[in-house]
Amino acid sequence: MTVPYLDGVAASVPGRTYKQRAVDLLDLGPGMDAVDLGCGPGTDLAALADAVGADGTVVGIDRDDAMLATARDRTAGRPWVTLRHGDLHELPLDDAGADRAHTDRVLQHVADPARALAEIRRVLRPGGRVVLAEPDWDALLVDTPDPAAGRGLARFVTTEVVRNATIGRSLARLCAEAGLDVVTVEAHAAVFRDVETAERILGVRRNFARAVRAGYVDAEPDLSGPFLASALIFLTVAERS
Ligand SMILES: C[S@@+](CC[C@H](N)C(=O)[O-])C[C@H]1O[C@@H](n2cnc3c(N)ncnc32)[C@H](O)[C@@H]1O
Repeated sequence: MTVPYLDGVAASVPGRTYKQRAVDLLDLGPGMDAVDLGCGPGTDLAALADAVGADGTVVGIDRDDAMLATARDRTAGRPWVTLRHGDLHELPLDDAGADRAHTDRVLQHVADPARALAEIRRVLRPGGRVVLAEPDWDALLVDTPDPAAGRGLARFVTTEVVRNATIGRSLARLCAEAGLDVVTVEAHAAVFRDVETAERILGVRRNFARAVRAGYVDAEPDLSGPFLASALIFLTVAERS
């Protein structure tokens, strides 16, 4: 995962749309304490910081020091944002100190999502809310003349590429199992009609080539004509009672 890749997603129309919705669902207010878990290069920190204002705090946590350095640079003008090295499985945060928590495409990668959710519950105050923006790669659709090729691509990505590839659909259950009250779940379908954008964000050509080599797809499909692909991201909202 590179900073230009993450910036590209955030700048795309589908990326901007679901990210704005996640911030809206966080229902942030002045003076709140918010944490962005797996904050990467600080993609969402400015939006969180502006919503809580200088009387609040935002802590961005990531296990990647290079990402944290970029996030630090990008939030230098907002001193109520701090960055910490840490792992979602063992958050460097006090019990019950956060009003709001956020993840964006992070739980799809962690070794133990249930443990990460237990940590999120631990750090939330009673009444605190978490918004989890996580995809479900089984719902990756690419229009190909032979539909088997598109289905093969989705099977390749879910089986070989992303560790917790179908976490989107499971988060409501996992939140409930972690003792969180699920408030709402939304599914946002991003639609790509331009193969170059789909290449940048989904790696559609690159992954077709890999899927052929791995035996999931017979031959790389011709994507030179009219193009359509879609990917699904779930926004799961839960609270600690
Ligand atoms: C797909 S990036 C998303 C970054 C950011 N949330 C965004 O929307 O641009 C996933 C981030 O999660 C971080 N990450 C993955 N597993 C982690 C873990 N167990 N603990 C802390 N950070 C983790 C990675 O270092 C990476 O920065």
